[in-house]
Amino acid sequence: MTKKVLVAGFMGAMGQKAVNLVNNMPGFEVVAGLSPIAEDNPEQYHLPASAKIFKNLTEIPDNLADFWIDFTTPKAVYENVKFALQHHIRPVVGTTGMSDEQEAELIVLSKKEKVGGLIAPNFGMSAVLLMKFAKEAAKYFPDVEIIEMHHADKKDAPSGTALATAKMIAENRPEHQTAPDEVETLKNVRGGDYQGIKIHSVRLPCYIAHEQVLFGGSGEALTIRQDSFDRGSFMNGVKVALEKVDQLDELVIGLENIL
Ligand SMILES: NC(=O)c1ccc[n+]([C@@H]2O[C@H](COP(=O)([O-])OP(=O)(O)OC[C@H]3O[C@@H](n4cnc5c(N)ncnc54)[C@H](O)[C@@H]3O)[C@@H](O)[C@H]2O)c1
Repeated sequence: MTKKVLVAGFMGAMGQKAVNLVNNMPGFEVVAGLSPIAEDNPEQYHLPASAKIFKNLTEIPDNLADFWIDFTTPKAVYENVKFALQHHIRPVVGTTGMSDEQEAELIVLSKKEKVGGLIAPNFGMSAVLLMKFAKEAAKYFPDVEIIEMHHADKKDAPSGTALATAKMIAENRPEHQTAPDEVETLKNVRGGDYQGIKIHSVRLPCYIAHEQVLFGGSGEALTIRQDSFDRGSFMNGVKVALEKVDQLDELVIGLENIL
């Protein structure tokens, strides 16, 4: 039986890649798109002619879709995923910017509704491996800072990947003291702080999505870097998620946890 997919944010840069992915996946079909500003002309956005376009959540009927791909905005994503879970549509979420509390609430809801899904701050294999390697290195190099570089239109900072990297490093690094008498003569010049791990966010038109994790030791340094040069690179991870989330019975955070 064909698996039916709704793409939320289908007009956006990532949404269009997701539409193209599903259009080319045997056994899957885009049946609907959600966008507050789209015209009612699915083919204009490369959706099948039969696909329905909705402008808001209240228009979406029951039993419409099996999967909900979300590449929208930090403001929209929480309500979208809540709606999907309540309507037993399995979410595959790439949108970043949700708080830990929001994710925790959605996990509780997914368990209550017995609906599996995935929230992945990064669907790219290079970023997933960077996080894994950084977590490992943190055991030996507790002094670490993160620099993430993204395109100038990115709405949230730090990137979901940088924050996820910091969380994974924090799980593994030994007890650690940073310089207690440090003074900033220019406000925030040392970057954001996640449990003592500094995060620096760069926004420039030339970038897509890139991250460096810099570890400093005694007389040596280790730099781990990943570069996403093309948004298409995220689609392998979305494809894996679409193939695997119906084996889950709750919401999982992180692509690495379903590979
Ligand atoms: N997880 C990953 O691997 C990954 C990779 C790249 C980008 N992202 C994230 O994906 C998200 C989208 O990125 P993008 O570059 O496609 O942005 P974009 O601005 O190009 O697209 C976002 C789209 O969402 C639409 N939108 C806004 N509110 C909406 C709502 N309430 N319902 C439905 N659609 C709505 C907008 O009209 C727009 O078309 C961002 O949060 C970004 O950080 C994740």
